[in-house]
Amino acid sequence: MASRIIPVDPFDLVIFGGTGDLARRKILPALYRRFWAGQIPPEVAIIGAARSDLDDAQYRAFAREAIEEFVSEVKRVPATVEAFLGRLRYVVIDARGETGWAELSRLMRADVDHAFYFSVGPSLFGDLAQRLRDNGMAGPEARIVVEKPFGHDLASARALNRTLAQHFDEAQIYRIDHYLGKETVQNLMAIRFGNMLFEPLWNAQYIDHIQITVAETVGVGGRGPYYDRSGAMRDMVQNHMMQLLCLIAMEPPSHFDPDAVRDEKLKVIRALDALGPEDIVRGQYCADDGVPGYLTDVDSRDSTTESFVALRLAVSNWRWKGTPFYLRTGKRMRARTSEIAITFKEPPHSIFGVQKGQAPNVLVIKLQPNEGITLNVTIKEPGPGGMRLIEVPLDMSFAEALGPEAQDIPDAYERLIMDVIRGNQTLFMRGDEVEAAWAWTDPIIAGWEAREDRPRPYDAGSSGPEDSLMLMHRDGRRWREVRP
Ligand code: BG6
Repeated sequence: MASRIIPVDPFDLVIFGGTGDLARRKILPALYRRFWAGQIPPEVAIIGAARSDLDDAQYRAFAREAIEEFVSEVKRVPATVEAFLGRLRYVVIDARGETGWAELSRLMRADVDHAFYFSVGPSLFGDLAQRLRDNGMAGPEARIVVEKPFGHDLASARALNRTLAQHFDEAQIYRIDHYLGKETVQNLMAIRFGNMLFEPLWNAQYIDHIQITVAETVGVGGRGPYYDRSGAMRDMVQNHMMQLLCLIAMEPPSHFDPDAVRDEKLKVIRALDALGPEDIVRGQYCADDGVPGYLTDVDSRDSTTESFVALRLAVSNWRWKGTPFYLRTGKRMRARTSEIAITFKEPPHSIFGVQKGQAPNVLVIKLQPNEGITLNVTIKEPGPGGMRLIEVPLDMSFAEALGPEAQDIPDAYERLIMDVIRGNQTLFMRGDEVEAAWAWTDPIIAGWEAREDRPRPYDAGSSGPEDSLMLMHRDGRRWREVRP
């Protein structure tokens, strides 16, 4: 099954923070892969812009190393790598001063679209936007891409939105949530709205509960100072997990277009009930088996930041009243796994009497690793000996079903950057969505602070604190095992 690659038009892309970690690990490798695939045309111009005093050759050497480290060997075709590097330029720029702006403006070509990737801390967003405007680069053809964290709370997110709105229209602003660029996340919409099978059952009458798990094995690594001010709630729930929840819970949009989809997601966030302390378990990982604990990682003696959080959420609308959503995410957990599991209700009456093997249907959408979809169904155990039931998975691992192409699923950044160039905002967060998510998150965090809540310790390599199990046991339910 050969996939159709439709090349985009030539464009100029400026990466502010072009020598940073995100540029090295994600943005430059993603651009290279799309160039290799033929989607980015050879006439592209990519301009790294940062404070470091580099020239074009040194920036190309930086990009070459990034490609060597983060692009698979099969795609590192020497002639293609050279051609790509030949399209890179570098400008020394001072976001808060005059250095570099005139040169950057001279490099931008008149007849192509312009995109500016703000791969810098949010405190520089306003300066960059202002300088782009002052130097004539904020015209209607310009798009800007901003990364999370988009604010630290509602007030700061509003301030950022206001600042950007002084210089750019909402239709020019692309707020990245890289979870929306993951293949299976988009598949969630294809499954729901491309099939007749699921949507009639997609409500509280037929769905018992939904679990969303994003478990990581890594700790906070070198990001201690950022993470310790954020915690799992701000780092993962307010954005990535909220977006997943929205895609599961939203009403069918009338079209797959940016505002139709984002309007429906916004309604979900606004329908979320406020949470009480009984709906939340926070955790912090401890040292285990030679792995340092959270406090060591962030170099603190008494941090109360959570590296794990489990929540029980209610979406108060006709579709979902009575069906809880359980969310959990954590660092240093047993396995790296992200999945959404939708557990349907039991059939109203069993004609087989009480049977051990009969289990509710569970639709599992696996985001990573091993992207795929499984539907657990009850069947008869083969062979004679009466009607014995067993539960089996109808398994569609993408790698098996779609062959070699699925082994090569584009990275979220590849897809999202291409959407910026195509001018498609469907997979980007709108300003009001981000603010609504903060408006829901803020009182939860304020409650912890007011109560001086302390996270529960959990062993590195475990499934999180014991209390998170209780969150579900209390409702007569169980978390799915955390396994790859
Ligand atoms: C980032 C968070 O947004 O997402 C990180 O800041 C987290 O803390 C990462 O590790 C997870 O992304 P992925 O794609 O590896 O699941």
